[in-house]
Amino acid sequence: MKKFLFSIVALLALSGVARADEGMWLPSLIGDKIKDMQAKGFRLTAEDIYSINQASMKDAVVLFGGGCTGELISAEGLLLTNHHCGYSQIQSHSSLEHDYLTNGFWALSREEELPNPGLSVSFLVRMEDVTERINAGEKAADIADEAREDGRYSASVESLYYGNQYFLFVYEVFRDVRLVAAPPSSIGKFGGDTDNWMWPRHTGDFSIFRIYADKDNKPAAYSKDNVPYRPKKFFTISTKGVEQGDFTMIYGFPGTTRRYVTSDFVDYTLNHSNPVKIDLRTKRLNTIIAAQEADPEVRIMYASKHANIANAWKKWQGESLGLERLGTVQKKQTYEASFQKWAESSRPEYKDVLPQLHAAYDELLPYAMARDLYSEAFSVVELMSAASNATRGNWNPDSFYKNYSAEIDRDIAVQVWATYAEQAEPRFVPAYFTEQIEKYGSVEALVDALFAESNLTSREKFEAAKAACVDIKEDPAYKLLAAFSEISRNEITPRYNELNSQITTLYHTYMQGQMDFEPNRIFFPDANLTLRVAYGSVQGYEGDDAISYKHFTTLDGIMEKDSPEVYDYDVPDRLREIYRTKDYGRWAINTGTEEKPHLTVPVAFIATNHTTGGNSGSPVLNGDGELLGINFDRTWLSTMSDLEFDSEVCRNIAVDIRFVLFTIDRIGEADYLFDEMVFSE
Ligand code: ARG
Ligand code: GLU
Repeated sequence: MKKFLFSIVALLALSGVARADEGMWLPSLIGDKIKDMQAKGFRLTAEDIYSINQASMKDAVVLFGGGCTGELISAEGLLLTNHHCGYSQIQSHSSLEHDYLTNGFWALSREEELPNPGLSVSFLVRMEDVTERINAGEKAADIADEAREDGRYSASVESLYYGNQYFLFVYEVFRDVRLVAAPPSSIGKFGGDTDNWMWPRHTGDFSIFRIYADKDNKPAAYSKDNVPYRPKKFFTISTKGVEQGDFTMIYGFPGTTRRYVTSDFVDYTLNHSNPVKIDLRTKRLNTIIAAQEADPEVRIMYASKHANIANAWKKWQGESLGLERLGTVQKKQTYEASFQKWAESSRPEYKDVLPQLHAAYDELLPYAMARDLYSEAFSVVELMSAASNATRGNWNPDSFYKNYSAEIDRDIAVQVWATYAEQAEPRFVPAYFTEQIEKYGSVEALVDALFAESNLTSREKFEAAKAACVDIKEDPAYKLLAAFSEISRNEITPRYNELNSQITTLYHTYMQGQMDFEPNRIFFPDANLTLRVAYGSVQGYEGDDAISYKHFTTLDGIMEKDSPEVYDYDVPDRLREIYRTKDYGRWAINTGTEEKPHLTVPVAFIATNHTTGGNSGSPVLNGDGELLGINFDRTWLSTMSDLEFDSEVCRNIAVDIRFVLFTIDRIGEADYLFDEMVFSE
């Protein structure tokens, strides 16, 4: 009996029955969850979240660019997202004379709003279960094509649960999206990479854009005749603030989770891929940081690249620690052992799937590592992207050279290519590369020769070579790229793809198997950059020994971190002044008592929603569907939640909408923007 009880408990613990707020749910199927949401404090209906008959919350949420979320907050197309989501746009409008990164940007009129070529936002028009059509033999490409209605929409069919379900997603895409406002980086990126993925956090991570449409409110390429888009729906803003325990819902586009993979994949991530990638990025970052500190122009040029490299670099480190702490590999192995026992004793159709997956992963490992090295130790050298793009007719050398330093690139090439030469299996090292190293005597000497001889290391050399009709394919950079591409094309990619598609097919079975093995568990479909709802509540958490974390931060914390000599912690003078005089006006909150008040301004809060990359910029909504804040990060102990969610400690981080409003009002002096917003008091 005891043994039986133990195994039930163990199974429950493994199966995740008690995992309170895990999950990212499909909006069109939210009816399955709505009772639970309502029990936890949601006061609206499933139809309010997603409807094809009437305007619903989904019509106020967009996929922003290629991997963030944004939300509409006015009848005139005003849109909120994160500062880090608009970062490359803010950077592209910045120079030493107009340093919007450092000083912020506030359009004082519609005419001053800045267009952003290449930036688009996508609204989900509808989603539809097409599993039966796919199973009946229809092609995904044909289904999507039909849904595009001759170019009116964009559409794709996405697999869920590893092909156990298929959904069609139809989007309307707007391409005239203009920058309206951004706070200075000392607010929008306060704490920089030091505070990134951390709590307590004091970042006002927001930026403001506006969507423009043609006179019929339809998508149109940029034109000064375009007019502000009139959305079907936008969010009312709540200035009431958040309390511990309050219901929160996040509506957005989470990118990737891998909740149902085997221990093999986690082992690969933890013990193979992450360490190699972290080490390579450490080298690149050290080089970039040194160059940025030496030259303010380089600081701007490499700001966006730096942020992107550092973001994943830090996340992988937290993820590895988290997987280690939770023992995810071992837990999954235990789970797999009991699955295997169950399959062998009662479900023979599943008895081969785990051994086959294990064998396939074993075979995949060298190819997966070769790909990691290819992407992190070879093609990260920017000269290689120049070589690859310059042969294409439509390459824009301006945008490349604007943010390019051949010195930085050279220093990085020396380090990462040396790592490639050392760590890649000989069959994945091009003979040409080895010959060149031998010819010059070292990787460093090879790199020096390459950078001296190539015509692609500067705008001037490139133009001169073009004028003299020099064939780019004769450029030494192109030759090296060609040698590596050939290795990738012949030795890495084909076998990798073959094994990977085997693995995907096996997961189709294993996913179904897990659902049969645990009939009472509710499985959310892994994130795949489609629109999802996550819900939870505002909650602090218990961290390392003796440390409890509160659920919100305030301006006091910004001032505690103030340090004028450090770029990332140099609080704007205006904010220092406001703090000194405690001139908070309508944005003050009292964190003291009635007898002994302590006035401050709220900045950020955490909650238990399950989020991932792509959820940046997502609206954080209260039980009435009003905007409480903008999601922008996860805490350090949550960085492994794409693979295992730990409801004790996993928290998403949001900037409090009141801090956004305070910044607009008091730092940007742009409170005219409030005129088009709607507030609930
Ligand atoms: N960690 C957040 C996300 O994954 C925010 C990144 C931007 N901030 C930064 N300091 N790089 O994207
Ligand atoms: N900052 C992330 C993003 O850009 C979201 C935070 C996360 O990964 O949870 O999408």
